[in-house]
Amino acid sequence: MSNHASVLFVCLGNICRSPTAEGVFRKLVEQAGLQEQIHIDSCGTSNWHIGKGPDSRSLEAAGKRGVDISGHKARQFTEKDLDTFDYVVVMDRQNLADVKDIWHQNGGTKPTLFLEYGSSEFAEVPDPYYGGEDGFEHVLDLIEEAGAGLLRSIQEVMA
Ligand code: 4NP
Repeated sequence: MSNHASVLFVCLGNICRSPTAEGVFRKLVEQAGLQEQIHIDSCGTSNWHIGKGPDSRSLEAAGKRGVDISGHKARQFTEKDLDTFDYVVVMDRQNLADVKDIWHQNGGTKPTLFLEYGSSEFAEVPDPYYGGEDGFEHVLDLIEEAGAGLLRSIQEVMA
């Protein structure tokens, strides 16, 4: 991996959780001065929202924490992502099962649950889509905490 790393965040729709994780993590990486070394992207396991911008509730929740995700456009996960990304980081167990199905056939980078990089009492970043505003704040809390842990873990490997 040397002094470069690539990270792909994966959720279901690529309009709520993974674009938020991408934006928050990009900010952490920039604050660490590692934007030239760490490549970041996000995608969804479904094809439901391809080409769409983030959900307005995610835009607002991220914006309140100084993270602008308005430039994002949703794309779908492909098996090629397992060959090109060093870290394939998924939000929940369903994402993990879906990506693992493809990983079993394709090989490449083994997907991991995002929250394993943090010290949260939770295992998953829950799908906020059908819930209220609180769900989006909770998603941001979980992502900020795990994102800091993920960056520390990558820095250890790159050191
Ligand atoms: P995401 O949230 O996976 O965090 O982007 C969702 C977005 C859309 C849907 C479900 C979850 N949907 O059912 O359309």
